[in-house]
Amino acid sequence: METSRKKVSLTGVKPTGNLHIGNYFGAIKPALELAETYDARYFIADYHALNTIKDAAVLAANIREVAAGWLAGGLDAEKTIFYRQSSIPETFELATLLMAFTSKGLMNRAHAYKAAAQANTEKGADPDAGVNMGLFTYPVLMAADILLFDSDVVPVGKDQTQHVEMAQDVAEAFNFNYGRDGSTNSNNLGLTIPTALVRENVAVVPGLDGRKMSKSYNNAIPLFCSEKQLRKFIMRIVTNSQGVEEPKKPEDSQIFLLYKLFANAEEQAALASRYRAGGMGWGEAKEELFRVTNRELAPLRERFNVIMEDPLRLDAILAQGAEKARAIAVKTLKRLRKIVGIQ
Ligand code: ADP
Ligand code: TRP
Repeated sequence: METSRKKVSLTGVKPTGNLHIGNYFGAIKPALELAETYDARYFIADYHALNTIKDAAVLAANIREVAAGWLAGGLDAEKTIFYRQSSIPETFELATLLMAFTSKGLMNRAHAYKAAAQANTEKGADPDAGVNMGLFTYPVLMAADILLFDSDVVPVGKDQTQHVEMAQDVAEAFNFNYGRDGSTNSNNLGLTIPTALVRENVAVVPGLDGRKMSKSYNNAIPLFCSEKQLRKFIMRIVTNSQGVEEPKKPEDSQIFLLYKLFANAEEQAALASRYRAGGMGWGEAKEELFRVTNRELAPLRERFNVIMEDPLRLDAILAQGAEKARAIAVKTLKRLRKIVGIQ
């Protein structure tokens, strides 16, 4: 009988490079907060990124940058198991095992695949044009990432909830077939049923143009640029044509929305009343935003640079994480192989 254990939180981060402030507040910070109370397993989903990044040098650089970014952001590799997906061969064996319990129809309904197929159809192309099997089976690999570690919660952005639900469906199909339990404190454990933990209360960080900050919109403020570049990015924030003397509404300004992420309550109240009083131009508001942003990001930037300058140390941290993760993965897979009759 398995004794009651600490709950497991697991999430994967696709190494798409150039972390921005939206990633920091929307994903890194909340995941690190969860790591305080859960057994956290966080990994770089490098094989997921291969579906779209086919340049070896770019992919390799992204993997290092994103790993260094999480460490600089405060991930404690002693407390949290931190590894690369590609270091855990059991993930790929489990993905094969899960294929046998995943209906093709379920994959047809996955948002990413459906969107690609629909875009092709609208262009008059074959629905599957440019769709590789990595994209089509993306949810199965993600289910393997999650189920391999008996994850209880999976912190993700809203766009990923469907994938976690698919992991639940596949796990339930498996458990049903073998008459197994999905709750961790049972001695009849099949696959643990995971739950998505959606960061509802995390605000959408606005970008330079006021839309959601995103790499794809070219409106992002990078997390790790130099102080000089940071200032330049902030000066590029789009504002309206209100003059210096005009009173301004803080809640309508993305400068203020960004300011709220970095400033303490007193600073926020002070800037809000200066906005409302009039007499402060956008340039001055941007200077104030730069001051608080740089105050928080300077130590992060310094840690990031130190990590990036010592690739051997970064490799060693990831290797140590992989070793800890594999010890768990090997055990889970042994249990599952036995259940299906492959020993
Ligand atoms: P991008 O939109 O730049 O491609 P990703 O999709 O790679 O960003 O985002 C990785 C994670 O960062 C997502 O799970 C999401 O929760 C978070 N994130 C990205 N942009 C923002 C934003 N503007 N505000 C809040 N969270 C964000
Ligand atoms: N698909 C996730 C994303 O695009 C990344 C990911 C891969 C993931 N495997 C995972 C997230 C397992 C949570 C759990 O953001």
